[in-house]
Amino acid sequence: MRVAVVGATGAVGREILKVLEARRFPLSELRLYASPRSAGVKLPFMGEEIPVEALPEGPLPVDMVLASAGGSLSKAYAPRWVEGGALVIDNSSAFRYEPEVPLVVPEVNREAIFRHKGLIANPNCTTAILAMALWPLHKAFRAQRVVVATYQAASGAGARAMEELLTETHRFLHGEAPRAEAFAHPLPFNVIPHIDAFQENGYTREEMKVVWETHKIFGDSSIRISATAVRVPTLRAHAEAVSVEFAHPVTPEAAREVLRGAPGVEVVDEPGNKRYPMPLTASGKWDVEVGRIRKSLAFENGLDFFVVGDQLLKGAALNAVQIAEEWLKGP
Ligand code: A2P
Repeated sequence: MRVAVVGATGAVGREILKVLEARRFPLSELRLYASPRSAGVKLPFMGEEIPVEALPEGPLPVDMVLASAGGSLSKAYAPRWVEGGALVIDNSSAFRYEPEVPLVVPEVNREAIFRHKGLIANPNCTTAILAMALWPLHKAFRAQRVVVATYQAASGAGARAMEELLTETHRFLHGEAPRAEAFAHPLPFNVIPHIDAFQENGYTREEMKVVWETHKIFGDSSIRISATAVRVPTLRAHAEAVSVEFAHPVTPEAAREVLRGAPGVEVVDEPGNKRYPMPLTASGKWDVEVGRIRKSLAFENGLDFFVVGDQLLKGAALNAVQIAEEWLKGP
């Protein structure tokens, strides 16, 4: 298996290298691509230093491409890579809503992988993290309405955005006004209810991605979902406060039991011991943390919970590598 990582120098690309290494992904050759600015940069992999190449115009000499260099680049290049015979696992939103492109969280809809026509889409990070907690509960109690408010880390906007959070926090602490390039407003000591473009319905595209993508991954468009997506000054783990109304009766204990048996989920729910999901504890973890599970005071058969997952891992790099692993295992 010859593998290419496109966008290797980016926040997600660098995590893909670490995940491939940590999971001992069976590859015979690894090629790294980024913009011409990064040509010659070397990135560590399995004790070696692998040079980054400027992305060529044409097909890539590999069997699989893990792409994480943005939507417009994927839109232009992925069809060429597919034509050259590679399976493309794309992290961008370029192809997620095309009916013939599977959109996959392996713990939810692994079977969709095998319907691919050369391209598989990796979901939006907020959606993937939500799906990890919501899917097992949906299977057990059938979700009907979901209301989610997110607390999204800087990493979702890329490596430069993470850098901006650090440098501008430093400026703020030294009495200078923080600047904003990666975000609509300065992020330090702020929260910004604006991620991606506003839509005609008043929601942002990030918020609508949660709706569209959850429906596609679950294969169920009947769940009514409303989201508020908010950027907060954390580095790399997204948190989400979720309220769900189910068709069937549910108790917090029954939900905990279901989630304890769910792959990729860690129940962290001991409020008395100050144990609940947090970006600081979920960062660097493959599993998503779920906790603060309690009976809703607003919905019949309702639950409220808090889920936190590493945006760069389950929200991006890990999920992409898991798709590749499942594809290799076969149907
Ligand atoms: P580079 O580091 O050379 O700019 P992030 O999402 O963290 O901002 O990362 C984006 C990734 O996409 C980086 O690896 C970046 O490379 C890469 N990239 C951006 N533009 C191009 C391009 N025109 N061709 C190839 N890779 C690109």
